[in-house]
Amino acid sequence: MKNIILCGFMGCGKTTLAKRLSQKLNMELIDTDEEIIKAEGKPISEIFAQNGEDYFRNLETELIKKLSTEKGRVISLGGGLAANKNNHPYLKAAGTVVLLDCGIETTLKRISGDKTRPLTAGGKQDIINRYNARKPIYESVADIVVNSSKSKGKTLSETLEKLGEKSSS
Ligand code: S3P
Repeated sequence: MKNIILCGFMGCGKTTLAKRLSQKLNMELIDTDEEIIKAEGKPISEIFAQNGEDYFRNLETELIKKLSTEKGRVISLGGGLAANKNNHPYLKAAGTVVLLDCGIETTLKRISGDKTRPLTAGGKQDIINRYNARKPIYESVADIVVNSSKSKGKTLSETLEKLGEKSSS
């Protein structure tokens, strides 16, 4: 069984959907942020502050490289992982890539002022610019795009439906 990989901007609902999908499909769940936090023994905000963003990005690349050689999991990615084109070959090798997109308005409502995410510190315009810059990069790696601005149940059913269509095409 191939992996199912969830990508998308901060606040798009990757973590929540990944939990629901893994339960529904009885597949192991991996969250790249959680794996990195566990391995480094500190929160992401501290990794950014103490080691720098490049250090964190290298950890992400090493992790997805390793995960791409294994199967059968639902993998929830940190928002920057699929925004880095160098990671795309590993994502493609890893399995079916699902992009969640809830639109910029919902994104802003969900993440503005969030203290756990270092990349929200630049404020509203910075979030908008980053969202716009990343959108085409996410789209270029996605096999499936799901609108995640609706309820959690609807996001789950749309994802399952599109995964089903994909596997039978
Ligand atoms: C980031 C998103 C975060 C986390 C880190 C950087 C990004 O994950 O990996 O703060 O660059 O978009 P979530 O998308 O789970 O918030």
